Amino acid sequence: MSHMGFFASVNGVVTDAAEARVSVLDNGFTFGDAVYETLRTYGRRPFHLDRHLARLRRSAGRLRIAVPVPDDEMGRRLDALLERSQHAESYIRIIVTRGVGDISYNFDRVQGPTVVMVTKPFQPFPEAYYRDGIAVILSSVQRNHPRALDPGIKSCNLLNSVLAVQEAQDKGALEPIMLNADGDVAEGASSNVFLVKSGTLLTPTLDAGILPGVTRELLLERARALGVPVRETTVRVPELLEADEAFITSSLKELAPIRTIDGRPVGDGRPGPLTLRLLADFREYAPRHST
Ligand code: PDD
Repeated sequence: MSHMGFFASVNGVVTDAAEARVSVLDNGFTFGDAVYETLRTYGRRPFHLDRHLARLRRSAGRLRIAVPVPDDEMGRRLDALLERSQHAESYIRIIVTRGVGDISYNFDRVQGPTVVMVTKPFQPFPEAYYRDGIAVILSSVQRNHPRALDPGIKSCNLLNSVLAVQEAQDKGALEPIMLNADGDVAEGASSNVFLVKSGTLLTPTLDAGILPGVTRELLLERARALGVPVRETTVRVPELLEADEAFITSSLKELAPIRTIDGRPVGDGRPGPLTLRLLADFREYAPRHST
């Protein structure tokens, strides 16, 4: 696989990604002791970097990873990286690890943090997915319990999602929808879940044990601004299966309509009118809020 057009910034030093190096003693590698953000550009500018950095700091804080690099310096490092990459649009990943340790739980010996940014050309979801919708499954892999590893922490421990995505791919689906310990709808492996019932937009509350998605938050704001009735609530599986419309959201996917769940069509099996209206609105909004 070629990584042409992939660039990295490691503690502020920009290189081709192929040349970028992090120590094998880095806690991110030895313990998965790291947090991350994924975002994209619109018009070559990062979309809501402020909200992503705020969430990155909240995630790091929960793990007691100190991030002494201020937001404006983060912004300058990202600008330098984007300047080098020159993609039409970029996928951006920011990773902060606790730093280089001695493969032990002696956190006081760790020299850090390690602040990595990677860019690659942004590959949009195929337009057919937006036109026809996507296939999802209800995963047999339960979402991590908040008292085990809180999904609200965007950590680099992604094995819970890896297991669920493998199951989805085995079944020819694009995204697994994961349930919490109560059996209620939590979130996708890398997305949040919404449904429409009788004109009301519904999504699980944060205490379902999910990541507070930036796209989720923006979508709730946009829907309220448009006068769409919105409810954050417990979403039970039958409600999702019997929804008029359903979609997932993420920084990379925007809003992707769900066509089928475990092979059964949602609504009439085509992206619904409210989903398409919110998608069009989001696509109009996003380029105007990328700085
Ligand atoms: N994933 N839930 C989970 C578990 C996620 O990993 C993500 C994002 C979301 C959606 O959040 P946002 O709208 O802030 O992107 C919800 C990113 C895209 C990733 O893992 O690369």
